[in-house]
Amino acid sequence: MRVLVTGGAGYIGSVSVEALLAAGHDAIVLDDLSTGRRAAVPAGARLRVASYGDEALVGGLLESERVDAILHCGARSLVGESVRDPARYYRDNVAGGINLLEAARRAGVTRLVFSSSAAVYGTPDRSPIPEDSDPHPINPYGETKRAFESALAWYGAAYGLRSVALRYFNAAGASDRYGEDHDPETHLIPTVLLAALGRIELTVFGDDYPTPDGTGVRDYIHVEDLAQAHLLALQATAPDDLRTGAAEGPAISLVCNLGGGEGFSVREVLDAAERVVGRKIDHRTGPRRPGDPAVLVASSERARSVLGWKPGKGTLEEMIGSAWAWRQHHPDGYPA
Ligand code: UFG
Repeated sequence: MRVLVTGGAGYIGSVSVEALLAAGHDAIVLDDLSTGRRAAVPAGARLRVASYGDEALVGGLLESERVDAILHCGARSLVGESVRDPARYYRDNVAGGINLLEAARRAGVTRLVFSSSAAVYGTPDRSPIPEDSDPHPINPYGETKRAFESALAWYGAAYGLRSVALRYFNAAGASDRYGEDHDPETHLIPTVLLAALGRIELTVFGDDYPTPDGTGVRDYIHVEDLAQAHLLALQATAPDDLRTGAAEGPAISLVCNLGGGEGFSVREVLDAAERVVGRKIDHRTGPRRPGDPAVLVASSERARSVLGWKPGKGTLEEMIGSAWAWRQHHPDGYPA
């Protein structure tokens, strides 16, 4: 299968491209490198530096390269930035995404897997969260992910697009070669590890949540398990896939959570990281970060039963251990 991967120079995109190549598929990375890193594109994948929102360019690429399916990982993805500058999120995540869908429609590409997010749930009323919980995003980032999911369903019904939207919970860890390198870094695990190296100061955002130790609880899932879910989801979009319908059957617009199903608090992450690095990690406790729910834990039963997904990349300590190994090899992140 030949797959166009938008955002394939980003954290989750690069590990997914690596998994696609390892499984014998062909990958073309489309990334404007605004947040992606050239060095994160695996050897063996071709990189085209451009925006997925450039409909004419993408249409030409899909046709000339005879692309079978699209893995749409590219997006703006910072919750805080989305609150300050919602226009950027609507323009890139929604308008740009629709341009991508239009390019696919014109080129006759009918298979797409989308990187969605637990952010679509907002503050959930149930835990673990099943996919049929009502989505109530509480920031523009989550709203724009939700809007694009809806577009996929309507494109499926009207034009036969076969899609799977994967709602990631907290991606963590690294493969041997590819890891998490954001600027600025806002995610907990890389921030904790950078603090362990004395590069930045760590603040625990709030210890007065209604959780056992008062800090926020999240469902961490190894990025290589996410990458395997992408492979399974891409296969599930094939018209003759037995899991999602017989040949010539109706289009699917499947939505699946991807998480480990177990919650860990910020303090538990910090304790595990201290065991991994073998020393205490300095930190202070500050106020809550606006927009952070107390607990986000997924039910990933659907991904297991429909896609046959079996996450197995390990414990919290193993995830942090792989991130730490990557960070030690790349103390300054990817080269510019
Ligand atoms: N946290 C800290 N200090 C930090 C960073 C994070 O205490 O320096 C805490 C947060 O308050 C939260 C937990 O660590 O309780 C995890 O925070 P992350 O920033 O690592 O991840 P989020 O859960 O906020 O974000 C993730 C995805 C987003 C997605 C969101 C859904 O990274 O893309 O889940 O709410 F939108």
